Formats: sequence, structure tokens, C-alpha cells
Amino acid sequence: MSVLSITEVEPSTTILPDVWGKKVYGVGRSTCAVLKIGDQIVSSAILIRAQAHLRHKSNQETDDVLLGGIGSVLTWPQHRGKGYGTQLVEDTLTYMSHEWGVRGGVLFCASSLLAWYVKRGWKRVSGYVFVNQPDEPDGRMSVPKKINTMVYGINNDVDLVLESLPW
Ligand SMILES: CC(C)(COP(=O)(O)OP(=O)(O)OC[C@H]1O[C@@H](n2cnc3c(N)ncnc32)[C@H](O)[C@@H]1OP(=O)(O)O)[C@@H](O)C(=O)NCCC(=O)NCCS
Repeated sequence: MSVLSITEVEPSTTILPDVWGKKVYGVGRSTCAVLKIGDQIVSSAILIRAQAHLRHKSNQETDDVLLGGIGSVLTWPQHRGKGYGTQLVEDTLTYMSHEWGVRGGVLFCASSLLAWYVKRGWKRVSGYVFVNQPDEPDGRMSVPKKINTMVYGINNDVDLVLESLPW
């Protein structure tokens, strides 16, 4: 049986790999979630608390919510296709909801993984997305369009400001 194990870690700051198209400060080390069979790790991810400001596009109303960020989702190659990635994401959402009180999930993914998340109930944010970025004049940057910002459990037809570095 595969079981989720969580190690709470204070987030650290790092420079993200060059997938955003420019130098970007991001969350490096953070809370670590691993899915294990016995002592063997089969999948892992990092978890981030992300305070979020939503503007609903249907009525322009705003909403402040705590979201659970998920990043660096990985299943070890020899264990892929057995449902572990799906379980890891579902179990981490449950953990963050129960332990952190998050209302939903948020993650960034490349287009190659969009279908994987959509099949599991995640939806692409339709509006603009901003994240914290210390070098920018107003302390924020717009997430490039090639990066898909996906949410789970909240309205996706929103503009979204995350009070967090990206990850
Ligand atoms: C994406 C990933 C996490 C899935 O993990 P997994 O344990 O194999 O996932 P599951 O077994 O729960 O799901 C397997 C399903 O996803 C599909 N799948 C795997 N990679 C996919 C991809 N890139 N795009 C779409 N579907 C994909 C499989 O075909 C399978 O489909 P099925 O359910 O219809 O049979 C794993 O392939 C991986 O680690 N990839 C490399 C790292 C990566 O890109 N991580 C994302 C960074 S945020």
C-alpha cells in the first residue's frame, strides 16, 4: 500500500530553472510530500502556502483565499503509470485542506502536462496571474502565457494574484 508522508519545511528562496524565459526568484526548498511503499519513495512533490486574491470575472467581486501550491510533481520512472502521481496530488490536497485550511489548490505546469491535470479535475486560470518578484518595480510579475496556472476546488474564471514567489 502507498502512503503519504509529509515533512514540514520553512520555504527557502532560489532562482528557478530557465523555464519562465527570464531570471525568476522562486520557492526552492519547501514542505516535502513523498508517497512511499514501505521505505521506498515512488512519487514526490513540494507544497507551498499561497495567499491568493481572486477577482471573479463574472461579477468583478473579489475574494481572498489561502491556496495550497503544489510543485515539482515527480514519479520515479520505474513506477509511472500505476496511479501514484494521481494519488500524490489528491492526498496532498487533502493534507493541505485538513492541516493548513486551504480552500483549493494551485500549480504551474507546462503545456505537455495540461491534459494530465485537466483529466484529474484541475482547470486553467482564464485571467491574468501575478506572483511576487522582488526585482520588479512593483514587487510583482505577470506569469508568462506559456506557463499554465491551474487551480483545483475554486473558480478558475478569475484574475489571480498570489502572495508568493513562484515555484
Ligand atoms: C506526470 C507524472 C507525474 C505522472 O505520474 P504517474 O505516477 O505516472 O501518474 P499516474 O500513474 O497517476 O497517471 C498515469 C496517466 O497519466 C498519463 N500521462 C503520463 N504522463 C503524461 C503527460 N505528460 N501528459 C498526459 N498524460 C500523461 C499516462 O498515460 C496515464 O494515463 P491513463 O491514466 O489514461 O492510463 C510522471 O509522468 C512524471 O513524473 N513525469 C515527469 C516529471 C514531470 O513532468 N512533472 C511535472 C512537473 S509539475
